[in-house]
Amino acid sequence: MTRIVYVNGEYLPENEAKVSIFDRAFLMGDGVYEVTSVLQGKLIDFDGHRARLDRSLTELDMPKPDIFDDLLEIHRELVRRNEVVDGLVYLQVTRGAPGDRDFAFPDPDETTPTVVLFTQSKPGLADTPASRTGIKVISIDDLRWDRRDIKTVQLLYPSMGKMMAKKAGCDDAWMLQDGYVTEGTSNNAYIVKNGKIITRKLSNDILHGITRAAVLRFAKEAQMTVEERSFTIDEAKDADEAFITSASAFVQPVVEIDGHPVSDGTPGPVSRRLREIYLEESLKAAV
Ligand code: PDD
Repeated sequence: MTRIVYVNGEYLPENEAKVSIFDRAFLMGDGVYEVTSVLQGKLIDFDGHRARLDRSLTELDMPKPDIFDDLLEIHRELVRRNEVVDGLVYLQVTRGAPGDRDFAFPDPDETTPTVVLFTQSKPGLADTPASRTGIKVISIDDLRWDRRDIKTVQLLYPSMGKMMAKKAGCDDAWMLQDGYVTEGTSNNAYIVKNGKIITRKLSNDILHGITRAAVLRFAKEAQMTVEERSFTIDEAKDADEAFITSASAFVQPVVEIDGHPVSDGTPGPVSRRLREIYLEESLKAAV
């Protein structure tokens, strides 16, 4: 089956979809994106992802595409046309293709945003081997720019981090700023110590994860203690548990940091419980 993608108002087979070589995302990394997971054919946390897209566009003074209010319908149509049961929908909005290369932003009255969406089917997304056994991370310096709260397509350093992790025989990298963990290459980072869930507070240093917001809300509702503060990599190595959250991993245990097992090196009860609650509650609210 040929995948059907969405490009600027049209649903097309992927091999017929085209974007200009002058597109600002191609030349300047001038684009923002969202990843929404699909479970049992339904979208998880869709409203949160749309709201964050709105914020990313505003922060970059990027025009809102005129199909913004149709985004739910476009997501659903792509899921339907591609028969996605478990997987994700990727959405990218760029500042468009002005027809030449120029550092200055184009006039928004003359250059309209480029909007691209596609699906990735991932059967069994909610029950991957990594979610059962946990992942191994290394720590690396956080060399990204200072506006990590904006979900831009400038993903070169996170890609390099992922490759450094792979080379070290691990799954991901946790990034450090002044010795404190900011986040993973494509996820938010947490530790658990004496029953407390500890994660960095929201600022421009990290992406404001949609899964993070939901997980912290569910944790508080389940009477768990949440402390939003920075933690060092040494504190993480000495924690009772560690885990990550993201739209594609949900809640995933971290069992090794820089070669040190976290506790006994197996997924702990808090991350397992949070994963269960998150999947159960977000499936109930899926659209
Ligand atoms: N990444 N931090 C970073 C740097 C991320 O790239 C992501 C998401 C997150 C988690 O955010 P959310 O819970 O809203 O997915 C945190 C997506 C999944 C990606 O780039 O594929």
